[in-house]
Amino acid sequence: MKIYILLVITSFTFGFLEKVVSNPSPRPYKAIFNLGDSLSDTGNFLASGAILFPVIGKPPYGQTFFKRATGRCSDGRLMIDFIAEAYELPYLPPYLALTKDKDIQRGVNFAVAGATALDAKFFIEAGLAKYLWTNNSLSIQLGWFKKLKPSLCTTKQDCDSYFKRSLFLVGEIGGNDYNYAAIAGNITQLQATVPPVVEAITAAINELIAEGARELLVPGNFPIGCSALYLTLFRSENKEDYDDSGCLKTFNGFAEYHNKELKLALETLRKKNPHARILYADYYGAAKRFFHAPGHHGFTNGALRACCGGGGPYNFNISARCGHTGSKACADPSTYANWDGIHLTEAAYRYIAKGLIYGPFSYPPLKISPNKIA
Ligand SMILES: *[C@@H]1O[C@H](CO)[C@@H](O)[C@H](O)[C@H]1NC(C)=O
Ligand SMILES: *[C@@H]1O[C@H](CO)[C@@H](O)[C@H](O)[C@H]1NC(C)=O
Ligand SMILES: *[C@@H]1O[C@H](CO)[C@@H](O)[C@H](O)[C@H]1NC(C)=O
Repeated sequence: MKIYILLVITSFTFGFLEKVVSNPSPRPYKAIFNLGDSLSDTGNFLASGAILFPVIGKPPYGQTFFKRATGRCSDGRLMIDFIAEAYELPYLPPYLALTKDKDIQRGVNFAVAGATALDAKFFIEAGLAKYLWTNNSLSIQLGWFKKLKPSLCTTKQDCDSYFKRSLFLVGEIGGNDYNYAAIAGNITQLQATVPPVVEAITAAINELIAEGARELLVPGNFPIGCSALYLTLFRSENKEDYDDSGCLKTFNGFAEYHNKELKLALETLRKKNPHARILYADYYGAAKRFFHAPGHHGFTNGALRACCGGGGPYNFNISARCGHTGSKACADPSTYANWDGIHLTEAAYRYIAKGLIYGPFSYPPLKISPNKIA
């Protein structure tokens, strides 16, 4: 009897204390699950063999922060790493490299560099590619999540309460679909790829919600017209083709078109799923600030030229890409936004992640983070 009363009092007191202390709650997300491509892959592509991109497993990749190549397509941390830091969670272990001793309860990463929103079949059948860098598309990654789910939680009730406090990142994904279409096709072909890509993202969100996800962050595309890859491949003699940041108008316009379609699809999803919080991450807006005024944001060597590459006006040479013979990395990657012509530097990723977590670039906003990113 005495013990019983004591327990009641204790739990009452604790419940009361929790209410007082946890405002804001110290760790709003218990776990993060991430699907996507090279913008958020923390090692899956490398673990899958990285046959078509072996340099990812060697320096200078990883030189700034991890001091070794982890499979991240950058010199250091990615946006997902800064998000994990902000919510006091560990860096997400890559699904394909999971070992028994890995703590999966606080999140797992399913993203694979080179991954597409659409399945490989789409590109082969449309004649846009003979083979892909990876076949581990969004639907394959979703399959991995479903396979892992019984190890994360068991009963529906258990899963629901766990996922309610988890953050699901769906993307960025689709950028590679557009790379294939842009390189092999034309602008008409490229635009025709948007509806199926947005549909694939929508389908993945619906499935995650059906599995119990309640808080989903869905990023849009970057201003790809500012990427050294596009600037090099689609170089033009016509000044009119460039905006005042030196970016290709057509491709930035295209990225905005994708983002607009994605946002419309998210609006429909929100109406159908009022019990879920579906956030849009505006990578385009967050990055556009430093493309517009790089020096003002610390990128004193500009935002268009890659830090690591094999020469040319944007230091991007397709036959001497970062990590290959004939390329070299700059002395101070923190003064560049572009890392290897295709991906950004840790400094740029930190800048964008801050914009998502503390700034106005996630809407509705992410929950308040207990940690401030330096
Ligand atoms: C993707 O799948 C195709 C067809 O099954 C296969 O031939 C190819 O080797 C796979 N590519 C990779 C990178 O695994
Ligand atoms: C663009 O590509 C599509 C699909 O391959 C093709 O039907 C169309 O004729 C092409 N348009 C131009 C202007 O080349
Ligand atoms: C690109 O790299 C190749 C191979 O190293 C080299 O021969 C070529 O001169 C480079 N092009 C530029 C523009 O630097």
